[in-house]
Amino acid sequence: MNFNSGKYRKMELFIKNVKGKTGLFKLLSGEQTIFEFQPDFYIFRKIEVTIQENTEYTIYFENIEISQMYLCGNEDIYETGIYYLMINNEEMSAVSEGNILDTPYREQYHFTPFVNWCNDPNGLCWFNGYYHLYYQSNPHEQVWGNMYWGHAASKDLIHWKHLPFALEPQLEILQSSEKVGGAFSGSAVTVENGIYAFFTRDAEVIGDPATIRQSQAMAFSEDGIKFINEKELIPALSLEGVDVNFRDPKVFKANDKWYMTLASNYFGKGTILLYSSLDMENWEFVRPLLQVNQENVPSLECPDFFYLNEDYVLLTSIMGYRSKYEVYQPVLYYIGKWTDEIFTPESEGVCDFGGNFYASQTFEHEGRRILIAWVCDWHKEHEVVKHGAYGSFTLPRELSVKNSCLYQKPVKEVYDLLGTCLMEQNYGNDVELMIPGNSFYGCVQFEKESSFEIVLYEDETDFLKVVGNGNMVELISSKNKDEGARFVADVQKLEKLELFIDRRMIELYVNDGEKVGTKIVVNHTKQGCFNARFDNKDAVKQIQVYEMETIWKK
Ligand code: FRU
Repeated sequence: MNFNSGKYRKMELFIKNVKGKTGLFKLLSGEQTIFEFQPDFYIFRKIEVTIQENTEYTIYFENIEISQMYLCGNEDIYETGIYYLMINNEEMSAVSEGNILDTPYREQYHFTPFVNWCNDPNGLCWFNGYYHLYYQSNPHEQVWGNMYWGHAASKDLIHWKHLPFALEPQLEILQSSEKVGGAFSGSAVTVENGIYAFFTRDAEVIGDPATIRQSQAMAFSEDGIKFINEKELIPALSLEGVDVNFRDPKVFKANDKWYMTLASNYFGKGTILLYSSLDMENWEFVRPLLQVNQENVPSLECPDFFYLNEDYVLLTSIMGYRSKYEVYQPVLYYIGKWTDEIFTPESEGVCDFGGNFYASQTFEHEGRRILIAWVCDWHKEHEVVKHGAYGSFTLPRELSVKNSCLYQKPVKEVYDLLGTCLMEQNYGNDVELMIPGNSFYGCVQFEKESSFEIVLYEDETDFLKVVGNGNMVELISSKNKDEGARFVADVQKLEKLELFIDRRMIELYVNDGEKVGTKIVVNHTKQGCFNARFDNKDAVKQIQVYEMETIWKK
């Protein structure tokens, strides 16, 4: 298998031995062996190989498995991303994202990993001209496993480039088939010359939660790509009353002090802990920032606490909890005041009513508070397909507080992806529109109240539709496996619906962000539809449907 290195100076790949065999990986330039490696392990590890630019190489391997392989180290890496090489049987080819992702199962304008598993967004920040999205990743399979930090960057929050994996699991875990863990979720703080990542180091014996050990760590990167100087900041089990749940550091500055919020269980209750520091390295426990009293809530994951529109907002993903409409593990928001390091919530609500939204994280840039969340799949709707990926991320949403509620609008840059206008009408007559590509935007504006139904996907057995009236909207999927859960948004007055359909998922924004619902619905074709019916045709001011452009290059 041959390739020309072009402008790339480095190759990274994840390899392991085939069970019971001794493998060999070789990189040759002409007759000369440049790199030779015999892995003595059966759990994937990342190998880095230095290569010369503009050189013909041959890869030879036997008895090893490769989960991902890419070229990197190029000077313009933030412009172009990494260059994937893919092995199909004995053939190796360079693959473009646009080709591999253009299937019914992959998002066209929502960020998704190149292949395999992702969960929480991590380390969201803006640094040196780019937005950075790190994320929980298992690069090898479409299931959760040893956690790495994947990485992507974007100039506009919309067009992302895949970049080299940023953090790896500890060797202790990679050396034992009995253990699992790795670099768990966390956040980033940018300084003039680089990015500090704060994250949890997790190690546990598979299937034995009592052995979980979670400690907080920090590492530094000058370029956002290579993280060095990792330091342990807060050891596991170091605070009286805290059990094994101790993770997801979100670090921020307020009143000249650094603060860290952590997901935990404190004296038996799901709790967000608050720590403080003067130098980001020495941390002291302040107090619990928020506790919930429900017994079935072991922890409040991925806490995020920030100042917005003269209030403080706390977001957290509530393990084990069900909302009023029985939605499993929603993200809740609390809005209130923060005085003398004590948070007093004054209102609360569900962040997303759709049932596939978790582990949100926010960051601030140029006055905007931007949220990205993991499009999760609690009820196993995901279907494992070749070159598939489990999980993706919501559109970036701009947050605001209005009337003590959290509003979330797609960032304005999202609208630059609107392509051909497929239909527009200023009345409520029925619409029947087939949409090849199933990647589109629909907007309905109401003048008066009307019951309505919009079918967005339909085949012989399944459907997805949005139904509603003047004061409620509901997403109904025939594929919903969580019986009892309903995906409902109650509003005072329904004025505007915006639908972002992207192959296997939908985001539904109600009234310019008053409510948002994210839902996965696997449609096995690239065929979508927008079939709308309104009981009161005079109630509709405008209906628009646009194609959405893909963000991936073919
Ligand atoms: C939330 C979470 C975090 C943890 C990470 C591990 O989805 O459980 O609390 O850090 O995922 O992947």
